[in-house]
Amino acid sequence: MDSRQATASETGEKTLSMEGPGVVLETRQDGLALLIFDRPHDKVNLLTAPVVAVLEILIDQAAHDKNVRGLVVMSAKPASFIAGADVNEIRALRSIQDAEQASRKGQKLFDAIERLPFPVVAAINGTCLGGGTELALSCHFRIVADDRRVEIGLPEVRLGIIPGWGGTQRLPRLVGIGPGLDMILTGRSASAKRAVTIGLADDMAPPETLLEAAEKLVMDAAEGRRRPRRRLNDSLPARINPLFQARVALASQIARRTLRARVNENHYPAPYRALEAVVHGLRRGVDAGLQREAELLGPLAAGRTSKNLVSIFLMQQAARRDPGVDDPAVRPKEVRATAVIGAGVMGGGIAQALARSGLPVRLKDIDPQALARGMRHANELCRDEVRKGRLTRRECDQKLGLILPTLDYTGLRRADIVIEAVVESLAVKHTVLREVEAVVPEGFIFATNTSSLPIDAIGKDARRPEEVVGLHFFNPVHKMPLVEVIRGPATSQEAVATAVALAKRIGKIPVVVGDAPGFLVNRILMSYLGEALVMLEEGAMIDEIDRVMLDFGMPMGPLALLDQIGIDVAGHVAGVLSEAFRDRAPRSTALQILKDKGWLGRKSGRGFHLYADAPDEGGAVEAGGDGTGARGPSRRPKRRPEGPPREVNEAVYALISARPRHHLDAGPTETRLVLPMINEAARCLETGLVANPSRVDLAMVLGTGFPPFRGGLLRHADALGLTAVVQGLEALAGRHGQRFLASRLLLEMAREGRVFFEKD
Ligand code: NAI
Repeated sequence: MDSRQATASETGEKTLSMEGPGVVLETRQDGLALLIFDRPHDKVNLLTAPVVAVLEILIDQAAHDKNVRGLVVMSAKPASFIAGADVNEIRALRSIQDAEQASRKGQKLFDAIERLPFPVVAAINGTCLGGGTELALSCHFRIVADDRRVEIGLPEVRLGIIPGWGGTQRLPRLVGIGPGLDMILTGRSASAKRAVTIGLADDMAPPETLLEAAEKLVMDAAEGRRRPRRRLNDSLPARINPLFQARVALASQIARRTLRARVNENHYPAPYRALEAVVHGLRRGVDAGLQREAELLGPLAAGRTSKNLVSIFLMQQAARRDPGVDDPAVRPKEVRATAVIGAGVMGGGIAQALARSGLPVRLKDIDPQALARGMRHANELCRDEVRKGRLTRRECDQKLGLILPTLDYTGLRRADIVIEAVVESLAVKHTVLREVEAVVPEGFIFATNTSSLPIDAIGKDARRPEEVVGLHFFNPVHKMPLVEVIRGPATSQEAVATAVALAKRIGKIPVVVGDAPGFLVNRILMSYLGEALVMLEEGAMIDEIDRVMLDFGMPMGPLALLDQIGIDVAGHVAGVLSEAFRDRAPRSTALQILKDKGWLGRKSGRGFHLYADAPDEGGAVEAGGDGTGARGPSRRPKRRPEGPPREVNEAVYALISARPRHHLDAGPTETRLVLPMINEAARCLETGLVANPSRVDLAMVLGTGFPPFRGGLLRHADALGLTAVVQGLEALAGRHGQRFLASRLLLEMAREGRVFFEKD
């Protein structure tokens, strides 16, 4: 029984005054009213247009009810308060005027809540985001459940908009300028404890007694024993004080500087506009601030960037719901126990991710040192989470206790799924599969983390090839949200559904793709990285190539990315792809030359760039991270270099016999690097390697950091216009060769005037 039921049945004096589409107002005879959010058939509450419409009536009704002495705003959902506005409604806002009006409407409603003639308490029992937080801010008090699932935040900037229902005004006034700006400009949420610390919440109570505590708080306030608190006094006399204005100016300056270092205003204008709304309100007062908030929201909500960010958000949601198979009768196999074979760079991270979600893992390797390293890696990741407050020390120990290391196949019998992450060799993978089959009874899924071998070839001689599936994690496992689930020609629907369900269970976003060289992401990415290498060999400069793509919005330039992936790993994948796609793979020897020299990129301290902690002399220092088992010279760095590249490794030019001789024009360079990706993505769609353009875009954003503000690779192609894309490819083919010839699908779509996505 939840606490709401307890209260209602104990008092037995509830009167139901009005019901709406997910929100009701209950007024009790003792003068306490409860505004209860409970959206039918959903796990979360949303402030949809119909809910807002009913809310307006309910608030008006409460305001005129002489019997009401206090109001508690609450949710009947477990661990969820209000998740915000309906993203589809934000997406549907077409004009600046519509968006501004929607903002004004919400502001008016929350203003009415703030002006209610009796105390109002928000009892926050879980996720409280966006409009949910703005509603809570309009209440006079907030009490939070002492529960890890509580998160309170204003993530609007992540959708390319700003809080438009008073959030930019109320939050800084409540918690102070610094903490308020931090939350609004980053979109980061606060935990229950943090909310209390910064004054966002007044009290914290155990989840079971949250409602009782809220009732007590509201009654104490009604009887004058509690008064609302604010960290910032912005009454008119305080506001005109030059010291106050100086504080605002300083905070604004610092925030702007921090923003500049983090976010490009041309790509992501929303946080800059949010800052403007906050500062305007602090200088001119709340009413002027609200006016500005609505005015600034209008163009953002109606603009392209927000539409693109919202579409990515919706694609992620769709991927989380997608079972990965078309047949609804196919169910994923229940996974109770798992095994990971190979405790290297990937295996350790995968084992930790499995244990993190509560699954027991047998971690097997043939090398005791590798096993110890894999366990240490899992341990470090867990401790990191303790440091960040996401796990308690005890939980961390419990999770780590779920990973049992082994050098033989002890304990693997019970595994429902075995994830193979051994060296990238078909022979070794076959041996491992045979050994696993000898100890694990029939009916287990064999998921391989191969980055380049065909699933079909790995599963060919399996006892049950239909149980072999690809589960391609990205490196580093704990940071990268994407997992490619690869369906070989023999893979069963059940195996795909199981891999998809497992990926979701450990917090990843799966994208199902077919079995072809490079699968989806690496194949598209290599067409871009390969072209950057060709340009380098032609005489372009490393930092210029990288700069053009940074300006395009990639998180790092292609050559810095190659350093990050590892020159050896990238070289291996490039080799597989040029073997498979002979006529259209960019040809470059640069990776091989750097690898031979031992310049493996970030992990060895030098590649196309030099990194902090780089060894003084060129020389490989770390194992081949592609799992090929290829080791360079044995010198290991004391620790892996971190942070951005220190500078360009000028010695690369001489090493690959390229004389940097010309400056690049940004436009043509961008075209030459981006169009091949679009072309390759179109080929993947054409051959049915991936189901639809949304999957391509989601995979590219999550797997490579393709700029989210552009909405994804194929959305970007639509924005360029497919005719322009085809013409661009033709021109490039004329100048640089056949590899640029446009794919059949692109030609067809351009001819017929089609697009990848309907306009939103
Ligand atoms: P790694 O070299 O770090 O680890 C491989 C581990 O497998 C080593 O600890 C080795 O002792 C162990 N091993 C070798 N033979 C074994 C056997 N018969 N039984 C049990 N363990 C055995 O390699 P890494 O980088 O972890 O790669 C593993 C797999 O993941 C490869 O297939 C690779 O292509 C793939 N992959 C690698 C990525 C990367 O960036 N490193 C990214 C995505 C996939």
